[in-house]
Amino acid sequence: MTNVAIIGTQWGDEGKGKVVDLLSDRAELIVRFQGGNNAGHTLVVGDQTFALHTVPSGVLRPGKISVIASGVVVDPEDLLLEIRALNERGARISPATLKISDKAHMILPYHRLLDSAREKDSAGQLLGTTGRGIGPTYEDKAARIGLRLGDLRSEEVLRARLTLALREKNCLFQNLYGVPTLKVEDLLKRAQPWRSELVPYLTDTADLIQKAQAAGRHILFEGAQGVQLDLDHGTYPYVTSSNPTTGAVAVGTGLAPRELENVLGLVKAYTSRVGEGPFPTELGDETGEFIRQRGQEFGTTTGRPRRCGWLDAVVVRSAVRLCGVERLAVTKLDVLSGLKELKIACHYELDGQLLDQVPADFRDLARCRPVYETVPGFSEDIQRARKLADLPAAAQTYLRLVEKLVGRPTALVSVGPERSETIVSHEYF
Ligand code: GDP
Ligand code: IMO
Ligand code: MG
Repeated sequence: MTNVAIIGTQWGDEGKGKVVDLLSDRAELIVRFQGGNNAGHTLVVGDQTFALHTVPSGVLRPGKISVIASGVVVDPEDLLLEIRALNERGARISPATLKISDKAHMILPYHRLLDSAREKDSAGQLLGTTGRGIGPTYEDKAARIGLRLGDLRSEEVLRARLTLALREKNCLFQNLYGVPTLKVEDLLKRAQPWRSELVPYLTDTADLIQKAQAAGRHILFEGAQGVQLDLDHGTYPYVTSSNPTTGAVAVGTGLAPRELENVLGLVKAYTSRVGEGPFPTELGDETGEFIRQRGQEFGTTTGRPRRCGWLDAVVVRSAVRLCGVERLAVTKLDVLSGLKELKIACHYELDGQLLDQVPADFRDLARCRPVYETVPGFSEDIQRARKLADLPAAAQTYLRLVEKLVGRPTALVSVGPERSETIVSHEYF
């Protein structure tokens, strides 16, 4: 029996979806534990591409149970659209195969509205969010005025909770942001199809996961976002509003912390970031553009061009410590083919001092200058490599340097977007 958490060690988009889809072959339960439809996880199966947002990335494998646990925030309208679109393409998502926590909080239309109003407010703070209402939903959860999916079971409860929530929201919309206010009755009408279609999926997912663990089933915990977007440990305030770090597996699912067995850290062979915030190894030159084009670094959720730069071992090391990562999955190595030399930041320099940790204050991080180790690049197409020995010597040297600088061995190397384009050196299940 075993379980594995898949954690993004950078700023998200490390290829978590691809790796979860791959490993879900042998897992029985695939569980999302935090975040919401701000996530965009792309899976490539044969000549078909699927972009998943709330639904776990094991959903394309028949016979698996997908779980959206209580730590996730769910946009009911968006989730129903996602399920419908996937089923039209041959997935068989039903209440028998997808289990959703009745404790998960709902992203409601006013959360999205507030998210976008704040982003447009010239006197406010531009974060470059995905505009999905993630921050406002987690705020309401913490403020204890949120609505949970289980509230869909009763129209009376829905009415009372919406009335309470809208008192403050409408005040903000009317007086601060100058956008139209919302009416409880309109929202109740909009919620009718959510009630009839989503309630059959709701269950006590903590109980389900605890029993699966006790019965020795293989469980995969699918992280969303990445460690530097963590609300506590990331580049605050340029972060998301959940915890993509390992601790959230326990909080967001109800699995006891000591029962989590393995943590696989996803490391993209370079770095990307979407939205605002400091990024020490960012490349504003033609190398950055080369990586963006070859890596197709355009957001799965918003289509925004992703900022690109060299791999940052300081960032990945911090993820190793924060998350208990014991092995690495290095992804998108193929994208680096064609570059004369490759660089990895091993330290930062700040005010004449050498740092080997990410400073707590984003203003300090923005002033850090990366100190690089440089190795020769490779030019071969490596997408057909299926074992480490198939890789050119320079690509192997690069991987060894990653392992040395991060201090953890590699379990898997991804050399292309398709499921099969992977070198597996450690099996979990
Ligand atoms: P996630 O959010 O961590 O799941 O990552 P995304 O799906 O947002 O972004 C990763 C992108 O890279 C997707 O388009 C994947 O299909 C693609 N991808 C994943 N692994 C590889 C790889 O090894 N090589 C290449 N070229 N593309 C990959
Ligand atoms: P996956 O799971 C990359 C970023 C946004 C923004 C910040 C806050 O695909 O790796 P939010 O909408 O969460 O309030 O936005 O976080 N962000 C992501 N960046 N990948 C993601 O998810 C992200 N989810 C949120 O761009 O900078
Ligand atoms: Mg993504």
